[in-house]
Amino acid sequence: MKKIDVVLGLQWGDEGKGKVVDVLTPDYKVIARFQGGPNAGHSLVFDGEGFVLHTVPSGIFREDSVNVIGNGVVIDPVILMDEIRAIEQKAGDITDKLLISKRAHLILPTHRMLDAASEAAKGKSKIGSTLKGIGPTYMDKTGRNGLRIGDLLSPEFLNLYNALKQKHLGMLSQYDFQYDITEYEQKWMHAVEDLKRFRFIESELVINQYLADDVPVLAEGAQGSMLDIDFGTYPFVTSSNTMTAGVCTGLGVAPNRVGKVMGIFKAYCTRVGSGPFPTELFDETGEELRRIGHEFGATTGRPRRCGWLDLVALKYAVMMNGVSELIMMKADVLNCFKTIKLAVAYEIGGQRVDYFPFESGEQVTPVYKEFPGWDCDICSVRDYADFPQQLKDYVSFIEQETGCPVKIISVGPDRKEIIIR
Ligand code: GDP
Ligand code: IMO
Ligand code: MG
Repeated sequence: MKKIDVVLGLQWGDEGKGKVVDVLTPDYKVIARFQGGPNAGHSLVFDGEGFVLHTVPSGIFREDSVNVIGNGVVIDPVILMDEIRAIEQKAGDITDKLLISKRAHLILPTHRMLDAASEAAKGKSKIGSTLKGIGPTYMDKTGRNGLRIGDLLSPEFLNLYNALKQKHLGMLSQYDFQYDITEYEQKWMHAVEDLKRFRFIESELVINQYLADDVPVLAEGAQGSMLDIDFGTYPFVTSSNTMTAGVCTGLGVAPNRVGKVMGIFKAYCTRVGSGPFPTELFDETGEELRRIGHEFGATTGRPRRCGWLDLVALKYAVMMNGVSELIMMKADVLNCFKTIKLAVAYEIGGQRVDYFPFESGEQVTPVYKEFPGWDCDICSVRDYADFPQQLKDYVSFIEQETGCPVKIISVGPDRKEIIIR
């Protein structure tokens, strides 16, 4: 019996999960997304072309892969069908390669409006949501009002849809918010019909059967640990469990069936949207990171906030995910920095703190350790031995502090720009 391996982000999302899953897929048969929804934007680059996936697992372009959208995911049929059409232009028909859990919840057009109305009402204290309806959909899930993929097959579906829509319209009337869902709703109804060519499955049974048959399965996370609903920088988080625990609930796999946990981090740090970010840089160095790293959101195009690597937050994420190996992305972005900093502790009210605290807002000052930069181009390096010593020292320090080996280092966006040790 096989165990399920996991790839997930350890920071505030956009660590490079899409690229890593695409690179690792040849070692697996099945790739399964376990949470999140179209708030995610996972970029893949190969054959000189770039793709951004939102709901479809990042194994989809690899031959013979099976891609499962798990029960923990929330689905907007319009976005999913647009995505499928774009994939099929490149890869041909994917009807047999994509399986969708009957238990995955549906994002209704009115969920999107509720997200927008709620954010607008919050004004300055807004979350900075991607406005894809994620929060309201998970609210309906836990509130036991939601509609699921399996419901699409019910003769009662339209009645169920209208009942939930009416409830939402009542809620929307509480806000001072103008909206018109007519056009989106039409597209939504079309998309729902188009989606029916895919197999809707009991994904928990299918995945456990694959594992029982010794078929290798990889779970793909969305967002990052610091956006986790329980352990992230609440309320500036997303509405799902982005950590390893989410694999169990989002796919129906028991904790003792979890194998390797591969935690991804950038060699520095970024965040989109509002909320605490202790190592954020507001100076030219932050600008440089954004410019060189092309740090603009894959889903919303918003500029990402940039800063140095935060080891305090990273260690917290490693602990709670049970990370067994680390993957460091975008090392090449640091190529031309003379000095590289890394936060090893925080100072809060004059006290040194070496754990991630409940209060992670403005009162936190990072304590930095400085490293000399490598100051050369590493993009063409394919063997760890060929890295400059400064980069090896940076990596060794991270390994020593986290107690985890850094097994993969990425030096460019393309599939090929990667070193597996
Ligand atoms: P994800 O959400 O975790 O899949 O990450 P995103 O796709 O949102 O953001 C990662 C961005 O970095 C994408 O534009 C990738 O193409 C790019 N990228 C991934 N790995 C590397 C790398 O090693 N170096 C550089 N320069 N870019 C990378
Ligand atoms: P991937 O999978 C980065 C952020 C949003 C916002 C907060 C809540 O590409 O790493 P939501 O739409 O979930 O209500 O937004 O979470 N956020 C992400 N940031 N990468 C993502 O996904 C994100 N998904 C959500 O910017 O601050
Ligand atoms: Mg992303």
